[in-house]
Amino acid sequence: MKFILQIMSGFLYHFLQFACIFFVHINIILVSSASSLVCRIYRLFIQQFNLKTLIDSKHMKFKKTALITGITGQDGSHLADFLLKKNYKIIGIKRRSSSFNTERINHLYKKDILNVKYFPYYGDLTDSTNLVRIIQETKPDEIYNLGAQSHVKTSFETPEYTANVDALGALRLLEAIRLLKKENKIKFYQASTSEIFGNTEIPQNEKTKFNPASPYAVSKLFAYWSVVNYRNAYNIFAVNGILFNHEGERRGATFVTRKITRAVADYYSGNKKILYLGNLNAKRDWGSAKDYIKTMWLMLQKKTPTDYVVATGVSKTVKEFAQEAYKYIGIKIIWSGKGVNEVGIDSKTKKILIKVDQDYFRPTEVNELRGDSRKARRELKWKPEVSFKDLVQEMVKKDIERLY
Ligand code: NAP
Ligand code: GDD
Repeated sequence: MKFILQIMSGFLYHFLQFACIFFVHINIILVSSASSLVCRIYRLFIQQFNLKTLIDSKHMKFKKTALITGITGQDGSHLADFLLKKNYKIIGIKRRSSSFNTERINHLYKKDILNVKYFPYYGDLTDSTNLVRIIQETKPDEIYNLGAQSHVKTSFETPEYTANVDALGALRLLEAIRLLKKENKIKFYQASTSEIFGNTEIPQNEKTKFNPASPYAVSKLFAYWSVVNYRNAYNIFAVNGILFNHEGERRGATFVTRKITRAVADYYSGNKKILYLGNLNAKRDWGSAKDYIKTMWLMLQKKTPTDYVVATGVSKTVKEFAQEAYKYIGIKIIWSGKGVNEVGIDSKTKKILIKVDQDYFRPTEVNELRGDSRKARRELKWKPEVSFKDLVQEMVKKDIERLY
């Protein structure tokens, strides 16, 4: 009897243990499948109704939605800051890159901005399917096409790629607007350039003959005419901002102004290397990027679309830029020699600080760009606020601050 009781209690013990484990497992399965179901429904709901955007938009009461290509670049980053202050919702197209390319817009990757006011999308101007999808999904009121292979010298090395991005990229966006039947809904800004003038009469305005002198300029001219054509053919509100060189602390390091201000800051901090430049006598009409950004927005707020030249009206040589930059750290540059043998010398120590390197020459050079921006000043009520001297000094100052 005792033996039977022992067997039964043992059986009961194991049965209860098994039952406990069984029910715990069942519970886990039930709870986890219930929560995964809830998650799935929630995700579907968000996807179906684009809920995140709706909630954000509802709370934020945005004035408008702007799509910016090239948001990681100098101008794109400033434009995003400018439009955020105007209470725009920003859609930014950025390229996939193996290293970080968001340095200029890191401040947008913050809790109350990212996916609240600023919505990044991976994309590329060479991929029309992706451009169509982004426009369809985000429904912008304004598109600012600032994305480009923007380096003139590099365009001689990569002409086909430059044309694909800078010429066809603009065309792809214009076609996307047409394909989605948004001709009357979306306003389009094209980042055109003074480079389309090439070597022609000086100063250059909206009526000046074009004479592009690089694959970059030729591509940008294609984009320019595409904008004019789509405006005339399909009544799209599309404009060309023919902007002359504009610079600032966010300027890419391989453009001559930033190359100089970085070298000056380096020199000041003790890294006393020679600065190698190309054509010292080229003249450019240098303005401030922050100043010029406003005109992009102003152009899209007009009643009728038309193209504008944006410039300071003053041109300086590369030499003058370098002189002004070294002056900020107390060095007076004097020039000696000619052509490739010309050098910039510290007037006090007689040390050579600047030399010419032919590698920086372009197969065809634009000698002087100087803009006549009377139309923009009159119709957009705009004028440049930053002088050449202040621009150079501000850039050197920032580059020095970065080193300390
Ligand atoms: P930038 O600093 O060189 O910026 C160019 C931007 O375009 C970057 O965000 C770059 O992305 C992006 N980009 C390059 N290739 C692309 C592609 N295939 N698909 C999508 N995006 C691409 O130029 P910026 O000085 O800001 O100039 C803005 C625009 O104005 C450009 O179109 C330029 O040609 C034009 N523009 C400039 C000036 C000037 O003086 N700054 C004057 C007249 C016209 P990553 O960051 O990944 O490289
Ligand atoms: N980059 C560079 N590097 N340019 C040099 C150098 C050098 O070492 N030395 C002399 N230069 C001369 C160039 O030959 C050119 O005449 C002038 O300096 C300016 O060159 P960049 O700063 O490279 O600018 P850019 O004028 O060719 O093109 C910029 O402005 C255009 C608007 O006119 C870019 O931002 C373009 O995207 C823009 O369209």
